[in-house]
Amino acid sequence: MNVLPDLRVHLGPLALKNPVMVASGVFGYGDEFAGLAPYGELGALVLKTVTLEPRRGNPPACRTAETPAGMVNAIGLENVGVQAFVRDKLPAALAYGTAVIASIAGETPEEFAACARILDATPIAALELNISCPNVKSGGMAFGIDPEASAAVVSAVRAATGKPVIAKLTPNVTDIASIARACVHAGADILSLTNTFAAMVIDVERRCPILAANTGGLSGPAIRPAAVYRVYQVARATDVPVIGMGGIWNGSDALEFLLAGASAVAVGTALFADPEAAHRVLHGITSYLIRHEVVRVTDLIGTVRLHE
Ligand SMILES: Cc1cc2nc3c(=O)[nH]c(=O)nc-3n(C[C@H](O)[C@H](O)[C@H](O)COP(=O)(O)O)c2cc1C
Repeated sequence: MNVLPDLRVHLGPLALKNPVMVASGVFGYGDEFAGLAPYGELGALVLKTVTLEPRRGNPPACRTAETPAGMVNAIGLENVGVQAFVRDKLPAALAYGTAVIASIAGETPEEFAACARILDATPIAALELNISCPNVKSGGMAFGIDPEASAAVVSAVRAATGKPVIAKLTPNVTDIASIARACVHAGADILSLTNTFAAMVIDVERRCPILAANTGGLSGPAIRPAAVYRVYQVARATDVPVIGMGGIWNGSDALEFLLAGASAVAVGTALFADPEAAHRVLHGITSYLIRHEVVRVTDLIGTVRLHE
């Protein structure tokens, strides 16, 4: 192939220059990673979840634990609050020069909507609804495990903003397809998945959980096959674009998600090990397309060949 492959993707109303994003929470508001890599080259930057009022998060004593092929975290949605986010954090994130996606959470659908109204007036490219955080006592995953509660959040936000709305799903449910359909019916333009898997790590000498919050969310390569399967299920159950994530470390990992039906991918935990992980993923996808003579990355989406 003589020409470079076309990496552009359209996620419904959201057009991206390529399908590789950073996942919410691991990139902070962007300022912590300033100067570590040219993040403006990526398709989109999803920033840390913000809420209407600032939150202190869980006790800082122990918020993360390393596990085989992954980590468990219970940060508890520590954030500066949406007003300070817009005033103090968003301008620097926008200065990277690529699509910036804000992530919001709340304890009620009205709180989500109030955040959405504030962010509607900013140049963000889309709004991701974190209805899937396993590390907070109220709100968070409590919405994402129930189709009606998920739909209530999406409808409230839909009425509050004209921005593209992304519903971020939790894997901690029996039937993820029914939650996905409820979100789409309520007006979600895009679905993203997965958030972390509910988990616990115990220090056997002290006979107590390692995390101060007792339980947390598992991320990293340990969850990848389970996340790929859920993306496959959701992509088949709905007709909106899907953003896939969970343990993506390189181009091949990302391609699994694209073949399973994702239109874009997000890199999370890998960024802690290597701030250039998302760039490595993007280069890996590009060289695969060249090697297989695929002209457009969109030609691959959902094309996994199942065995008879
Ligand atoms: C330390 C940490 C903080 C996170 N914070 C958020 C967050 O604020 N909002 C959110 O929607 N997801 C958050 N996540 C979940 C990630 O965005 C992602 O969905 C998950 O970690 C799976 O991807 P990965 O295995 O590539 O990390 C966080 C994950 C980690 C590891």
